[in-house]
Amino acid sequence: MADFEPTIIAFVCNWCTYTAADLAGTSRLTYPRNVRLIRVMCTGMVDPQYVVKAFLAGADAVLVSGCHPGDCHYINGNFKARRRIKLLKEILPRFGFDEGRLRLTWIGASEGVDFAHTMTQLVDEVRALGPNDVRSQMVL
Ligand code: FES
Repeated sequence: MADFEPTIIAFVCNWCTYTAADLAGTSRLTYPRNVRLIRVMCTGMVDPQYVVKAFLAGADAVLVSGCHPGDCHYINGNFKARRRIKLLKEILPRFGFDEGRLRLTWIGASEGVDFAHTMTQLVDEVRALGPNDVRSQMVL
């Protein structure tokens, strides 16, 4: 499994984590290219179906990342996301998904360094987990 390169789908909030990713880029910070960013206006709009669909499509991990608690531009969207992720982590193992492949982080707009560090660390951890083998077991 030495050649395994994970694919990670990251749903990132427009106002904080996406801006942090932009800052990381303009600051010429590097992070692994395994992470595919999907910009959403708020983590509160990340429907649990999006997460499940990402796993079924072969994602090795899914990240939801947005504004710190209290900083959500839509008041409480990140709290809704936190509740949904907690429930998803309880439900996913019943369908054969490792709940450790689903992450939630808060990365603010000025935290470009934190963004690059978090992505690097996440890719390393998922690389150690190995590929998401649920997809190969499914009859589609
Ligand atoms: S606007 Fe960023 S999490 Fe809600």
